[in-house]
Amino acid sequence: MDSPATSSLPPPPPNRYNFRKPKPLNNQPIALKPQRTNPIIWFLGVTCLFFTLFLIFFGITTLIIFVSLISRTPLFDTPGATLNFIYSNSNEFINGDFTFLANVSNPNKKIDVTFEYSKVELYFSEFLVATQGIQPFVEKPRKTETFLVHMIASLAYLPPNVALEFQKQMQRKRVVFDLVATFRVKVNLGIMHFRYWLHGRCQLEVTSPPNGFLLHHDCRTKR
Ligand SMILES: *[C@@H]1O[C@H](CO)[C@@H](O)[C@H](O)[C@H]1NC(C)=O
Repeated sequence: MDSPATSSLPPPPPNRYNFRKPKPLNNQPIALKPQRTNPIIWFLGVTCLFFTLFLIFFGITTLIIFVSLISRTPLFDTPGATLNFIYSNSNEFINGDFTFLANVSNPNKKIDVTFEYSKVELYFSEFLVATQGIQPFVEKPRKTETFLVHMIASLAYLPPNVALEFQKQMQRKRVVFDLVATFRVKVNLGIMHFRYWLHGRCQLEVTSPPNGFLLHHDCRTKR
């Protein structure tokens, strides 16, 4: 490759250190002709750019909606309850009649929600005593629904130690129940829908019947 320089150039200095001489310019391969970018490629590039921007915008919007949904889910509360009667006919089975005021509110400022499916369960010391369903209902933003829910316990089984605890609480005239509410919530975002489960849990302390009334309640609502 150490070809002699062309005649038009001055003779190269002696190659004392035996370095490779630079290749003469005219020996280099011919550069590719500069190509005009095809308009279709331009068009595709611009389309891709817009599509990417649209995706980013869509992603951010979805995230904002999602965060606003997460932070403002409906709340379940039980501001009132009456224990009309409750008794155990043997020591292990209880019958009862319990009514409570349910307060379901939608604190979201923009989005209305549909409660497609709602169920409440009454527990005494982790044992299911009564179950009741609630008709589907729709709630506008920042609206609250209050309704009476009537629950009937009919021969609900309690194991002996739990039945004993129940008798004790009846004698003390303060009975503690847990109320578990389960909702299937549908969020209506124009033409889009989104559903999730909502769980309300309240601990209620009522006086014993007749006309047992609510002493304390402590409610939490979680998704
Ligand atoms: C129901 O809940 C809402 C919001 O938590 C509250 O403003 C309202 O006073 C409650 N209603 C009753 C009857 O407790």
